[in-house]
Amino acid sequence: MDDEESILEVAKEFFTIRGYKVFTAQNGEQAYEILKSTRIDCCFTDINMPVMNGIELAEKINRLDNTIPVVIMTGFPSLENTLKTLKNGVVDFLIKPVNLNHMELCIQRVLQQRRLFVENILLKEEAEQKARLEELNRELTQKVKDLKTMNRITNEFLMLTSSTDVFDRLVRMAVEISKADAAMFHLIHEMIDQPVLVSRFLCADDPAALVLSQTVPPEFVKDVGGEKMPFIASPDALNPISEHVGSLMASPLTIRGRVFGVLTAAKMPEKYEFEEKDLFYLSVMTSHAAYAIENLALYENIYQNLFSTIYAFVRAIGARDSYTEHHCNRVTRVARMIAEHMGCSEEELDILYTGGLLHDIGKIGIRDEILLKPARLTEEEYEIIKTHTTIGANIVGQIGLWEREQGIIRHHHERYDGKGYPDGLSGEAIPYLARVLTVADVYDALASDRTYRRRMSEEKILQIIREGRGTQFDPQIVDVFLELYQKGIIQQHDSCPCATGNL
Ligand SMILES: [Fe+2]
Repeated sequence: MDDEESILEVAKEFFTIRGYKVFTAQNGEQAYEILKSTRIDCCFTDINMPVMNGIELAEKINRLDNTIPVVIMTGFPSLENTLKTLKNGVVDFLIKPVNLNHMELCIQRVLQQRRLFVENILLKEEAEQKARLEELNRELTQKVKDLKTMNRITNEFLMLTSSTDVFDRLVRMAVEISKADAAMFHLIHEMIDQPVLVSRFLCADDPAALVLSQTVPPEFVKDVGGEKMPFIASPDALNPISEHVGSLMASPLTIRGRVFGVLTAAKMPEKYEFEEKDLFYLSVMTSHAAYAIENLALYENIYQNLFSTIYAFVRAIGARDSYTEHHCNRVTRVARMIAEHMGCSEEELDILYTGGLLHDIGKIGIRDEILLKPARLTEEEYEIIKTHTTIGANIVGQIGLWEREQGIIRHHHERYDGKGYPDGLSGEAIPYLARVLTVADVYDALASDRTYRRRMSEEKILQIIREGRGTQFDPQIVDVFLELYQKGIIQQHDSCPCATGNL
């Protein structure tokens, strides 16, 4: 830009020959119009021009695009002008009259500077974006972690089968999730003066952790229970109470508005303190535990109800055929003795109890003239009576809860060699508890008086059982049965006074 046309013409010709694309203007306003519509890499401007002078122009260019370098060409650069222009993106001065070769060197220099400047801006933007991305990533990782913790808390309480399991799970989770050194669950009741410790978990086999758990003041637990609110104790408040406790928090377990107990987590001194988030998770744990306990109470009731309903069937059979009812009770007792001796768990013994009492429940579907026939059965009748295994399994199967009990009922007439019914299963394919029940079932049948035969002698019974070892019965179970029999643990029982029936 220059108001002297001759200067513009000479410069345009010189630079066009050298391969530059040159735009010229005689004042700032014209120049600004060009700049708005064209991509310009570098500007040279005179200071004194009509309409808009070079300094005003430099200011406007700077606002339009601060990466465009502006070079001022002036006869006498005053200090005042120099300072003003330097603030507005002016990168250099050329003294008039300008040597065109110097001007070209100047172009090359400012363009190089511009490239670096733009690169720098891009790099800065990239760095900012990267930092933002990293921040987002951190936030996301934290959110995923929080979600996982919440899921874990929810899932941990789904599969529990007793309230004791709920308390044990609570204290273990409190230690693991809040990185506590010890966690305790106390029951609280208005009739009891002091909180009662029912479960405790320590993070390590460290005597200090045990001391820590023992020095948590009962008043703290009682207070949290009384307030019905989760609470973190401040270190200042703890100091006079115990030198062993560094950080302490607790959350009440409330069922239908009543405090049932308090979950407490503690840390040794000199570890970082519990935070609000730890307390939040602790309270989530106690509320999930409360649901679990409530559900268990309901479930235990439902389970009890179901069992009594089903057992009513057994008593109904008893009314028709008292042999079956008594037989079921005796078989269950003997089967549980064998199972106990074979190292079965409490849970398996429970299953055997239900399955044993109900194993002949399917007889409810067999007509009286067959079920109660006081003579040997014909082949067709025998086929009908065999269906009691599948009928019984179907009745119990409808409940949908007793899968393993159902297995006992369906398979208690299978034989170890595969020649039994209803499915002809053999060996290990027959459910273990059904194999146990089979031995007890056959033993009881042989040892009972029936309308069509007297009960067998002891020698005869033991002989039949021994002979069935590995063919009708699982050999290991027979061994245990015989051992218990010889020790007198299983004894010949009194015969059933009203023995009828054919199985
Ligand atoms: Fe049976």
